[in-house]
Amino acid sequence: TRRMTHVDLTKMKAAGDKIAVLTCYDASFASLCDAAGVDALLIGDSLGMVLQGHDSTLPVTVADIAYHTAAVARGSRRPLIIADMPFGSFQESPQQAFRNAAALMAAGAQMVKIEGGAEMAETTHFLTSRGVPVCAHVGLTPQSVHQLGGYRVQGKDDAGATRLKADALAQQSAGATLIVLEAIPEALAADVTAQLAIPTIGIGASKECSGQVLVLHDMLDIAPGRKARFVKNFMAGQPSVAAAIAAYVAAVKDGSFPAAEHCY
Ligand code: KIV
Ligand code: NA
Repeated sequence: TRRMTHVDLTKMKAAGDKIAVLTCYDASFASLCDAAGVDALLIGDSLGMVLQGHDSTLPVTVADIAYHTAAVARGSRRPLIIADMPFGSFQESPQQAFRNAAALMAAGAQMVKIEGGAEMAETTHFLTSRGVPVCAHVGLTPQSVHQLGGYRVQGKDDAGATRLKADALAQQSAGATLIVLEAIPEALAADVTAQLAIPTIGIGASKECSGQVLVLHDMLDIAPGRKARFVKNFMAGQPSVAAAIAAYVAAVKDGSFPAAEHCY
């Protein structure tokens, strides 16, 4: 088996095949996710919350993400490895972003994810034209929780929807080859997915996306605290973690997850 690439994911979108993504932070879970057919693994800065116990993603460092990326890469063979660029590691300048992205690529990532739309397009162009594939992340961007005034649905009014579409298009034009849409209404997710050639990966963004992602600890129901509306407990009724992950992959592939109850 060779690793999936962003080219494979774009072919899946064109063929109408749904893309199953999970966050992952260590080699053991990476191996289970690989065996279950997960297409891409994201070393998310959500590790600040589910592994480190912080109440936001803001304290996570490049060294944290690199450590977990190396473990996930060692534990898996087929899934595309996407490393999150943490808060403060890319916003300053394209040069700063490249330096930190290079550390994550050296740790085993094949792609980095950055939160932001049009304002980060210059950085995306800088990275993608120098060999670093980029996944953009728009809608609810948790690193901006203080600016957004909390974790809330985005793109609800006309102005917000127009801005989100422009952000997604700007990122695609700048060279992003994947985009995460977080916590946006179903109609907007459908519209953005239809307008873009690159795949959209939804979290709280309905089944209209090209694929789905969830935080591993949320879908296994092992993260403490209140869950977002879009989370489903895939461990329920399953005999093992392996079976729960396989159930998630099957539900994404056959379009049964997310259901209306998980959407805005
Ligand atoms: O950090 C993370 O886990 C993420 C995904 C939920 C998209 O950014
Ligand atoms: Na993240």
